[in-house]
Amino acid sequence: MALILAIESSCDDTSAAVLENDCVLSNMIAGQKVHEMYGGVVPELASRAHQENIVPVVDAALRSAGVKTTDLDAIAFTGGPGLLGSLLVGVSFAKSMAWALGCPMMAVNHLEAHVLAHFLQQPGQRKEVPAFPYLCLLVSGGHTQILKVCGPFQFETLGTTIDDAAGETIDKAAKIMGLPYPGGPVIDRLAKTGNPKAFRLAKPRIPDLNYSFSGLKTSFLYLVRDHLAENPDFIAENQADLCACIQQAVIDTLLDKLIKAAEQHRIKDIAIGGGVSANSLLRSRIEACGREYGWRTFLPPFSYTTDNAAMVGMAGYFKWLQKDFCPLDTVPYTRQGR
Ligand code: KG4
Ligand code: ZN
Repeated sequence: MALILAIESSCDDTSAAVLENDCVLSNMIAGQKVHEMYGGVVPELASRAHQENIVPVVDAALRSAGVKTTDLDAIAFTGGPGLLGSLLVGVSFAKSMAWALGCPMMAVNHLEAHVLAHFLQQPGQRKEVPAFPYLCLLVSGGHTQILKVCGPFQFETLGTTIDDAAGETIDKAAKIMGLPYPGGPVIDRLAKTGNPKAFRLAKPRIPDLNYSFSGLKTSFLYLVRDHLAENPDFIAENQADLCACIQQAVIDTLLDKLIKAAEQHRIKDIAIGGGVSANSLLRSRIEACGREYGWRTFLPPFSYTTDNAAMVGMAGYFKWLQKDFCPLDTVPYTRQGR
């Protein structure tokens, strides 16, 4: 039995969780409203907010789980990729605490944590988990990848974006329409009453299982710019349709390659992860694909779609089982390849 404290601070959410093995006892997240007025995450402000939040968030996670620091067996933290100033807060805090308690630490890769979130369990209930190898469509603000997950830390990248990420594309479309940051949840909500066929957008044509979203983004920008030249109220009058069109174009593109990957690799356990996996159209379309292609689908609960420490704790627990601990001189890294 392992009681693990997990810490996530890679971007603009400060989060702490307590896990008993794979079971989540608590998962606290402090978001940062300060970035809304800038239309995107301001790294300097993010690290300052992490500094303010980290102690209260860890304290709340421990209290909610009914666990004392001296009960902890290990500490897991996000080592990267992410913003350096943000990561430094969580990594330094975790290292100091592990050193003070004399317990081992596990440095977790943020993307691996998103992928492994499907193994998290809640107290008193066991749910089905994917069987290896499974496919995971990882879609967030910074990443868009199709991964073949052969084991907890054995991934094969089958496809990746060659330019913008799916979440980034949606956020940029929201910015073009003057909608608040992050645009994903807003577009999701507004698109519900819009017509996804109202406007034509350029469809990416990229070979293999890779993605490209920059052409779609430019096509959306030109569409809005050209119509605005004729009608200054174009955005306000067509907001729902514009949201439905960009959302549909992104989701169609994501699914097209995911279906190909599943066919080529003959895999029927299909998972999604990352912030964009909260999108209601993506979720319903994945379930529809499940019925059509006989997939067993795994959609993370909403609280585990965007950044959270529970998923870091899950990856940390897999490392604990492998005794894959990290030394005290571990430093954060900003990019996936380090
Ligand atoms: O995984 P995440 O919290 O942070 C990164 O690691 O990037 O993902 C954030 C991204 C943002 O682009 C946000 O707009 C998007 O996830 N997002 C959504 C929805 N909720 C969050 N995109 C579409 N629909 C949503 N409901
Ligand atoms: Zn993330």
